[in-house]
Amino acid sequence: MAVIALTSASGSPGVTTTAFGMALLWPRPVLLLEADPTGGSGLLAGYFRGTREYVGGLIELALTSSSIHDGLAEVSERIDGTTVSFVAGTRSHTQAAALRDLWQPLSEELADLESTGQDVIVDAGRLGLVGAPEPLLANADLTLIVTRTTLPAISAARSWADSVQRGAFDWQQPGVLVVGEGQPYSSREVARALNLPVVATVPDDPESAAVFSRGAQPPKRFQAGALARGLHAAIASIHSTVSHRRGELLEGVRP
Ligand SMILES: Nc1ncnc2c1ncn2[C@@H]1O[C@H](COP(=O)(O)OP(=O)(O)OP(=O)(O)O)[C@@H](O)[C@H]1O
Ligand SMILES: [Mg+2]
Repeated sequence: MAVIALTSASGSPGVTTTAFGMALLWPRPVLLLEADPTGGSGLLAGYFRGTREYVGGLIELALTSSSIHDGLAEVSERIDGTTVSFVAGTRSHTQAAALRDLWQPLSEELADLESTGQDVIVDAGRLGLVGAPEPLLANADLTLIVTRTTLPAISAARSWADSVQRGAFDWQQPGVLVVGEGQPYSSREVARALNLPVVATVPDDPESAAVFSRGAQPPKRFQAGALARGLHAAIASIHSTVSHRRGELLEGVRP
């Protein structure tokens, strides 16, 4: 399908959890890139609860003497029993500056992965941080601001959405992913407030989210639970949004 980037404006709305949850349910092989410049791997410390060792990640990719193509293959790790690979983020925020020159060539390399049948989900962390992976956000096929629907969350997202509309970032296709629709505002209200389309919604389901975010024991009916169903629906919406835009782009170049 494509490169999908998830980011946020404030709080911790669930970028890492949603990115990982979607990766596990993704219908094709997928690479999850932990590009949050805050540092610390949400996967290794969260889902794997520190039981899986850090063996390499973005910082090694930035420092490699191999090509970016080979380097990416070297630092990508498989998650057993799935078709998910991941690249671990930096171990400290102090390393983020060293990634500055990596983001652009990496974004070009990620776009090429599709030809190998692999999609990419990027956890870009919060907007505006030092060392933020702006080229990954700009070159993704779809860049989603993840937000809750509370007033503080919407008000923080709004200033970024305004900047997106004013063309400050040059994202290919911006949109919103809502976590916890109706708590208290609806997707429609969020879309109106931000003046961006809500591409997908994911329900508020703390018990299931904790499985992805901190390796908690899956609750009963986890696979058929609210979060899993919401993630499946979010994937389908993302897929159709990306396909639709590609269709439009093709129409545009047809003689
Ligand atoms: N859909 C959800 N329903 C309920 N709780 C959720 C959901 N998604 C995430 N959470 C919870 O919210 C908290 C923050 O999640 P997460 O770390 O994914 O957010 P984040 O946006 O990546 O935060 P940060 O900006 O700090 O990296 C975690 O406790 C997680 O379990
Ligand atoms: Mg996160």
